[in-house]
Amino acid sequence: MRILVTGGAGFIGSHVVDAYLAAGHEVAVVDNLSLVGGGRRENVPPQARLYEVDIRSDTLNEVFAEFRPEVVNHHAAQASVKISMDDPLYDADVNVMGLLRVLRACSEYQARHFIYISSAATYGTPAELPLKETSPQNPESAYGITKLAGEFYTRMWHDSFGLDYTIFRYANVYGPRQDPMGEAGVIAIFSHRMLSGEPVRIDWDGEQSKDYVYVGDIARANVLALERGKNETFCLGTGVPTSVNQLYERLSEIVGSRPPIVRAPKRPGDVRLHYFDITKARELLGWEPETDLSEGLQQTVAYFRQVLEQASRG
Ligand SMILES: NC(=O)c1ccc[n+]([C@@H]2O[C@H](COP(=O)([O-])OP(=O)(O)OC[C@H]3O[C@@H](n4cnc5c(N)ncnc54)[C@H](O)[C@@H]3O)[C@@H](O)[C@H]2O)c1
Repeated sequence: MRILVTGGAGFIGSHVVDAYLAAGHEVAVVDNLSLVGGGRRENVPPQARLYEVDIRSDTLNEVFAEFRPEVVNHHAAQASVKISMDDPLYDADVNVMGLLRVLRACSEYQARHFIYISSAATYGTPAELPLKETSPQNPESAYGITKLAGEFYTRMWHDSFGLDYTIFRYANVYGPRQDPMGEAGVIAIFSHRMLSGEPVRIDWDGEQSKDYVYVGDIARANVLALERGKNETFCLGTGVPTSVNQLYERLSEIVGSRPPIVRAPKRPGDVRLHYFDITKARELLGWEPETDLSEGLQQTVAYFRQVLEQASRG
């Protein structure tokens, strides 16, 4: 299949590109290598064509006209909760106006299937646990609101214009290529800082617990979605919560040192506990996370070790 991955130079999108290529698909990437996200040219393998294009620009239509994607996998986004609160107009510009331009191009150039990436942030404080597809969504950040708006637009586009869709709500995704300099992505931040011999910051009392899912498993779900579970919404996680304190313990064992901890207050909007019920993805997609936390953390540390070694060699 010809698959266009928006945001395919970013952390998760680039793993999705790798998985589609490995499954034998023809892949192109649209990414503006945004200064504030995880987009890097070197994340895109040479077999995938990179269009360095902003999804909000008119050039997007030229990409569709040239590549003629059958499937559009939409990972491009303003993906930071903090930035969304500092600059909600920018967040909505990329996550809503950008999305609408991608959807419009899908219709204009007859793409068949649209894969939209949503987030656990659409739930806000969980009304029930574990969170499932039908749990109430009450987003508490600008990012959560724009991601939820995207879900509604995606379903409306199907109902009104016939574009098949898959919606994935990701839990906390981690793994190689995650930006360790962001304000989120605790596993990347801790791994990078621990390997660099720097202290790590733990907010609140460190007992806040989230569902951490390995990026390779997330990429595999995006491959499965090509064949199964059309016009459905899925929660993707592990179903298992892990606290920040537990992450500190497990990562320091892998790294082989216990860096000092800097304590900080609870961050506004941080949630005490969330984890997903993944029964629907198991049943309809045939998807199951295969990388347990220990293995995923080891892979992540190994990646950052390599990055730091390369940097020290210049
Ligand atoms: N990381 C997580 O835990 C997580 C959880 C839930 C959902 N998501 C979603 O997954 C997707 C990927 O997130 P990520 O963590 O890989 O972040 P990322 O920043 O690494 O990836 C986003 C990509 O989109 C690109 N981009 C941003 N604005 C663009 C624009 N205007 N035009 C073209 N490209 C643009 C960036 O350059 C980057 O490559 C996002 O939609 C995000 O909302 C991520």
